[in-house]
Amino acid sequence: PMEKIPEGFDLYFYEGHWYPSIFFYGIISFQQHFKAQDADLILATFPKSGTTWLKALTFTIANRNNYSFSESPLLTRNPHDLILFLEDEIYGKNPILKLEGLPSPRVLATHMPHSALPTSIKDSDCRVVYLCRNPLDVFISFRHFAVTVSNTHFDPSLIEESFEMFCRGVSIYGPFWDHVLEYWKESQERPDKVLFLKYEDMKEDPISHCKMLAKFMGLPFSVEEESQGVIEEVLKLCNFGKLKDLEVNKNEKNRNGHPYCMFFRKGGVGDWANYLTSSMLERMNKLVEEKFVGSDLNFKFS
Ligand code: A3P
Repeated sequence: PMEKIPEGFDLYFYEGHWYPSIFFYGIISFQQHFKAQDADLILATFPKSGTTWLKALTFTIANRNNYSFSESPLLTRNPHDLILFLEDEIYGKNPILKLEGLPSPRVLATHMPHSALPTSIKDSDCRVVYLCRNPLDVFISFRHFAVTVSNTHFDPSLIEESFEMFCRGVSIYGPFWDHVLEYWKESQERPDKVLFLKYEDMKEDPISHCKMLAKFMGLPFSVEEESQGVIEEVLKLCNFGKLKDLEVNKNEKNRNGHPYCMFFRKGGVGDWANYLTSSMLERMNKLVEEKFVGSDLNFKFS
């Protein structure tokens, strides 16, 4: 079955999840053809959970000895141009890069749910970083993103219907809960394989998360690097305000003609409160409680 969300995206239901129909060809090709390498790092996110930030951070950590911070490719290129989406840009209808062309270790990204990943990701020694964010900020962030992509204007009167659909699980790569829970369970069972991060915690304590990320990537910061302030440099380069103000992210467009500025909106926690009612919050709290019962997983909404 298909559904159209009010902001103008067609979603296609396939094996338990709602996929954007525009990526469907890439989703199937990715599932069928991707061969993970042991050294790969896969960044997995539900859309609008902070993928752009995670891409910037992992790119900078992985390349910190290849470029000085003042010459980082991040200063002139958007993070999505440096780390590509597997199901869209690599296996999609018009892939822009062949995987064989990438230097090892490869850092790649996906929005696919864990259960839908190609088996080679699960069977090889490659590692997965999952970043999640509270569902209300994800929900609001996506509304803004979607209107940019579909070339319309943000219409608050559509929120109620969209929210209804989101709660039913009908959202891009939804249901949200299944997406988060699948990676959560995997991270609990195989902590060496899947690192589970939360956007809100990263905002609160970026330094320890940056260290954790580097360690998980097999590239821990040395004592010397720490004393030289390298972690702070990484964070400064990947900071929301810093990236948002760069010429490339302010004024340039991607190959589909969409402005890169659509990836940098507010970059905070709790913006949903400017759009959603207290009864919507109540409903979400109940849903989160019901869906994540017994998992030890919770979200910070502010
Ligand atoms: P808001 O719309 O709430 O501002 P994704 O990268 O997964 O598409 O998610 C986009 C969200 O992450 C947007 O949230 C965006 O502003 C925020 N974001 C982008 N870059 C960021 C950064 N460097 N640090 C923190 N948040 C960032």
